[in-house]
Amino acid sequence: TQTPLIDPFGRSISYLRLSVTDRCDFRCTYCMAEDMTFVPRNQLLSLEEMAFIANTFVSLGTRRIRVTGGEPLIRRDLPELLRNIKSSNIGSLDDLAITTNGSHLAQYAAELKQAGVNRINISLDSLNPARFKELTRIGNLEQVLKGIATAKEYDFDKIKLNTVALRGFNDGEIKDLVNYAIDNALDISFIEEMPLGATMAHDRKAAFLSSQEIMQQLSSQYHLSKSTNTTGGPSRYWNIENSNTKIGFISPHSNNFCSSCNRVRLTAEGRLLLCLGNEHSVDLRAVVRKYPFDAKALSDAIQQGLALKPEKHHFDLDEPPQIIRFMNATGG
Ligand code: GTP
Ligand code: 5AD
Ligand code: SF4
Repeated sequence: TQTPLIDPFGRSISYLRLSVTDRCDFRCTYCMAEDMTFVPRNQLLSLEEMAFIANTFVSLGTRRIRVTGGEPLIRRDLPELLRNIKSSNIGSLDDLAITTNGSHLAQYAAELKQAGVNRINISLDSLNPARFKELTRIGNLEQVLKGIATAKEYDFDKIKLNTVALRGFNDGEIKDLVNYAIDNALDISFIEEMPLGATMAHDRKAAFLSSQEIMQQLSSQYHLSKSTNTTGGPSRYWNIENSNTKIGFISPHSNNFCSSCNRVRLTAEGRLLLCLGNEHSVDLRAVVRKYPFDAKALSDAIQQGLALKPEKHHFDLDEPPQIIRFMNATGG
């Protein structure tokens, strides 16, 4: 048996975020610049390589896998990858989840359910069509709402909305978004924007909206009680009384959560990122191409890579972004 993954700070790593593409049909202003260069397709891991890496992680104690992007649903044959991961790891995987912008969800919800996905997170930053367009640059709100409505028909364990909170943009819509979540029995997380990549759309410092401020707005209207529910991730959840909705806060600036970090990320080109807010990485593509389907070689590379996991991220909104990599290449 393998040694489970423990990092130099004693944290157990049991959660993998798998980015299947850096491409996206949106250009959200907090995530990308208007004009982006994407990884050439011949540099991407194949789905077989991704499944092999994911399965190797499970053999090293990973219990949760979240598929991300870019927009994961635009990667061709994604349901096949999900089915493969699910069926190879029955009994070993507690969670197979996906984070999506929702634009293709109406089309794919049924297949995701059949493939064994049990949780879906969907980005939703505004319920106002014009503002939604402004924030996503090219997204269509109606299509996303239709995707959410379709997903709700398929009995997933959990559907969560993600809202990046931006002063001057969606700060007047917090209650509307929460009411939408309550009406639809969904959870919703509010996220403080992280300074990854030179997105150039707004001043990140001026647009910073802290979780506390949102909490204050909400506590005048709702009865909130702290929830013990956690996915081991950064979100801190509150129950809204008399509803099936939890509100999460992801507060990388105002409440550092790195001491309980349980996760690493794999980019679509096979770079294992040890931390979202640092550049430390290992090239797992090189390993799987040099030693195809050799679980021992890959496990060793993962174990060695883990030694590089930094203690925490240091985001400073007074400095230009220190992480050049955009969020779409990171998978959130
Ligand atoms: P689960 O933990 O699987 O429930 O999901 P999540 O809410 O962490 O994942 P999701 O893909 O919905 O991402 C929501 C937000 O959390 C995004 O802005 C991510 O960038 C952020 N996030 C997730 N994990 C980390 C992390 O380890 N560090 C930081 N700084 N942000 C994270
Ligand atoms: N800061 C915080 N969250 C971000 N996301 C994308 N870019 C950023 C950023 N710069 C969020 C999206 C998506 C999730 C994967 O990451 O809203 O829901
Ligand atoms: Fe695409 Fe998600 Fe980035 Fe928006 S936040 S551009 S939907 S990857």
